[in-house]
Amino acid sequence: MDEIIIEPKEQAEDKNFDLTLRPKFLREYIGQEKIKENLNISIEAAKKRGEPLEHILFYGCPGLGKTTLAYIIGNEIGGEVRVTSGPAIERAGDLAAILTNLKDGDILFIDEIHRLNKVIEEVLYPAMEEYAFDLIIGKGPGARTVRLDLPKFTIIGATTRMSLISAPLRDRFGITHHLSFYEDSEIEKIIRRSADILNIKFDDAATNLMSKRARKTPRIANRLLRRVRDYAEVKADGIITKELANSALEMFGVDNFGLDQVDRKILESIIYKFNGGPVGISTLSAVTGEEMATIEEVYEPYLLQLGFLNRTPRGRMATELAYKHLGAKIPKNLQERLI
Ligand code: ADE
Repeated sequence: MDEIIIEPKEQAEDKNFDLTLRPKFLREYIGQEKIKENLNISIEAAKKRGEPLEHILFYGCPGLGKTTLAYIIGNEIGGEVRVTSGPAIERAGDLAAILTNLKDGDILFIDEIHRLNKVIEEVLYPAMEEYAFDLIIGKGPGARTVRLDLPKFTIIGATTRMSLISAPLRDRFGITHHLSFYEDSEIEKIIRRSADILNIKFDDAATNLMSKRARKTPRIANRLLRRVRDYAEVKADGIITKELANSALEMFGVDNFGLDQVDRKILESIIYKFNGGPVGISTLSAVTGEEMATIEEVYEPYLLQLGFLNRTPRGRMATELAYKHLGAKIPKNLQERLI
């Protein structure tokens, strides 16, 4: 299979799908209730005062809705949303071109903002604080700066790695929100909403089953929906039942907790090769053949959320729940070692 079905990062084939399914306004957005409530107040207050919205920083695992919220904020505030990413802005001139083309009330969405280089970061500070861009003309002793006035725009930054954002950059965001994993019931609502939009007929038991296997992540839920629909089109017609959804997910290697082969490989390595742990992330990366960043950003957060993995100062450990899930024999001293 060329697609990792539980990969929370956006894949090429998610793009069109995401565009159709993405909610356009806060009232259509399911889950993250506290964030919605807070955003609604910030938006209404900014509109009332006729001022630009404060800069906003979203952090959380991939696929939880950071980009979707940025587009929603654009719609709610009536501004255009320009999208870029930390690594895409290589020179100060790139940033100048983007910023000077914005209009009052527009939004600049910077994905992976933790990957912005330091020089660009420095240029961004006056842009964020004073809506000004200090352009350096010439080199050496003859160099001079010219200050350009920028429109009253809002930056929405998104990151999966809050700890990699420098303190001065972090401090320039007036609003910070942490997106957490969704409840299964919210994922189920998202699947039903998407199925309705796409005109796919599922029975309730099928959407319920799928909601438990989507890693509490809307992007994965929508991807499972698409894959199960494809399977059903080939194997059956009419309403998609629980049995059909179950056999599709089994074929994709997604188990009843939403774990795939790589999650199981990680847990099995800890359990069978390192007697339950602790094992360091670099060792784990070497034995599983998965990149360290992928383990840390994609697999680990969900395994921690499920309570299958513990992070201790000496390394990662499998928990009793993980042993049970894999049907492995639990060592007698596991509890003591977990502390
Ligand atoms: N599609 C993806 N994420 C969603 C959400 N949070 N609410 C509604 N539809 C979605």
